[in-house]
Amino acid sequence: MTLPLNDQAIAILKGNDRGSYTVPTKGLYPYQWNWDSAFAALGFAEIDLNRAWVELETLFSGQWANGMVPHIIFHEVDDGYFPGPGVWGTEGVSGNDLPSSGISQPPLVATFARKIFEKDPAEGIKRVGPLYDKIVAWHKWFMECRGESGAICVTHPWESGRDNAADWDEAMANVDVSGVGEYQRRDTSHVNPEMRPTKRDYDVYLAILYYARAHKWDEKAILEGGPFRVADPTLSFILLRAHRDLVWLGDQLGKDTSVIKGWIASLERGIETLWNPAIESYDAKDLNTGKFSGNVTSAAFLCWYAGLTDDRVLSHLKRLLDAAPHGVTSLDPENPDYNPKRYWRGPVWVVVNTLIGMGLDEAGHKAFAERLHSDSARLIEQGGFAEYFNPEDGTPAGGGTFTWTAACWLAWVSKELGEG
Ligand code: DGY
Repeated sequence: MTLPLNDQAIAILKGNDRGSYTVPTKGLYPYQWNWDSAFAALGFAEIDLNRAWVELETLFSGQWANGMVPHIIFHEVDDGYFPGPGVWGTEGVSGNDLPSSGISQPPLVATFARKIFEKDPAEGIKRVGPLYDKIVAWHKWFMECRGESGAICVTHPWESGRDNAADWDEAMANVDVSGVGEYQRRDTSHVNPEMRPTKRDYDVYLAILYYARAHKWDEKAILEGGPFRVADPTLSFILLRAHRDLVWLGDQLGKDTSVIKGWIASLERGIETLWNPAIESYDAKDLNTGKFSGNVTSAAFLCWYAGLTDDRVLSHLKRLLDAAPHGVTSLDPENPDYNPKRYWRGPVWVVVNTLIGMGLDEAGHKAFAERLHSDSARLIEQGGFAEYFNPEDGTPAGGGTFTWTAACWLAWVSKELGEG
């Protein structure tokens, strides 16, 4: 007998739970990933508030002395993943004994901590108190180490969470991979290679990593000579939203939030530099060359989630939704690089639908929010809790029994709009 979807989602969260943190899915991603973990907390908040807070507390146990919260924390070494802790080489430079990667990921924590707080404010005050200054330090690190253009940039495609998005193609083409040498990928032994980044992508991922490692992850050296620096709409919109929610959390704790309000004003201005009039959309911009990527991607539709009252990309959203029956494609289907199977170059992601849908709902675009909501429900009902889905036929893709898809089901997709 098949279990109801709620029970299946709960079983996935519990199956991926390693006690104090949750892996995205066993095999393919056997460690604690930053933005996956924020989603896990949101999902756990539907069944076990204490466990939700523990997830976030564990994430911050990996915070670096400079405020950065790494994108992977290697709590227990697992040979099934590459590149593991030995490749990142961050020991001795992070100021933290926990082995981790050397880059960060989209900062969902303040926003989701607020949602978890609202479920039980008395508990929320107790749990956010010790986390608050740590979240502020992380946001400060983003503003100081990734914010020089006004918008927020990534120093590695993995930092955006959208590893092989077309946004990075030109900047990646300029990265010298001649020194990378031999290595053995593990992801393609867990998932069909057609659904994953290419070999050339991995060469670039490693070349960028090796540069930073050779410079002992020193932010000044990465700023001055790093081979990859691209201002990213995803990070910029998610951080802007997170700043707003951090002010709210600060208000609950009686903190002075004037510095964060200053960050909000400057990031709102910075995000305007990502408007590409040639495609009439928010776009990634290579900070080493000053060039836009020229791609319409789902990242642009996070503007409402960021709290902007800006409907300039609504017509692109309508076009993308009409082009594929199963939700927002990660890349415009009219783009020559569109591929409905390959990770961030076409597939639809329930996590992205959830963030975009939350923003649309809050901005009053109810019909669009409803569309994303029902598309996401149908994908899960038909294909299970996959990492992502083919937008043309809805087939599940990437890893299976995925924590963040299960969490989105529990916290948003299975609920009435406005309830999450
Ligand atoms: C991977 O290994 O595929 C991850 O996305 C890197 O964070």
